[in-house]
Amino acid sequence: PARTARRVLICDEMNPGDLHHEGFQIDYEGNMDRAETLRRLPDYDALITRSRTKVDRELIDAAGPRLKVIGRGGVGVDNIDLEYASLRGLLILNAPESNNVSAAELAVMHLMAAARGLTRSDRNTRAGTWDRKFLGLELKDKTLGIVGLGRIGSIVADRAQGLRLKVVAYDPYVPESKFERLGIERAETLEDLLRRVDFLTVHTPLTEETSGMIGAGELALLKKDAIVVNAARGGIVNEQALVNALNSGHLFAAGVDVFVEEPPTAEHIFLQAPNLGITAHLGANTREAQERVGAEIVSRVLDALQGDVSKGA
Ligand code: MLT
Repeated sequence: PARTARRVLICDEMNPGDLHHEGFQIDYEGNMDRAETLRRLPDYDALITRSRTKVDRELIDAAGPRLKVIGRGGVGVDNIDLEYASLRGLLILNAPESNNVSAAELAVMHLMAAARGLTRSDRNTRAGTWDRKFLGLELKDKTLGIVGLGRIGSIVADRAQGLRLKVVAYDPYVPESKFERLGIERAETLEDLLRRVDFLTVHTPLTEETSGMIGAGELALLKKDAIVVNAARGGIVNEQALVNALNSGHLFAAGVDVFVEEPPTAEHIFLQAPNLGITAHLGANTREAQERVGAEIVSRVLDALQGDVSKGA
């Protein structure tokens, strides 16, 4: 007898590719309203999200018993209440590699934009001020500090070396051999890293350990006129501490792609901060990455459901 189709709901913006897969019904609506997601969820075996949708207790409870799998179209799973999801027996999958290059390229873009005053020059020129007095910073022969030498941090290191930056990284979870292979110097402690670098970029997941990891004390250890980039997760660099360090002139500039609360309110402290370049969590947003993310997460989720079907058969 024909089995009923397994149903998959994709509720965040992505490129899900071909939605026709035998035995499955995949419904895609990027940017689905949360209330509607909650209402429709009980009819699905799997849900695929990006970072926009908070997969919290409320959502998991709304799902009911049919839901088996949650797919995260991207790397970070900090939008998912993992403890509660596992308590409910849900399988959580992500797409750990598809958008790494795009995320790394955005971080490098922020570093270059900060060093050359892109946002201020853009703003000034539009406002009728032709400011050619501004002097930026050259990257060559400076030292870039990377916190987190995982997939994305490693790509940033490679691109930075291409720009003739010297790279030092801090990552207690990565073996010495990886540093050697990548030609990167290892900092034994975060403090050691901060004291040595001209520029700093963070590429860790958001966890209890990394939340607020770069606060006022850490920023103070950086050389005067350092640049800080956060294209990882809001809050790894404490937001107020970053604004204070920009306001005081300790930092030359900074670039952020992420906020603690997204989207930020109109009153967010970043919006008035000097020498701060902002993007709207666009690290993974390239055509190429979204094509890969969609294909990877859909196929992982369908495989998981398939396994579930054969187990049940
Ligand atoms: C990620 O963790 O891969 C990104 O946050 C993906 C996204 O933009 O949703």
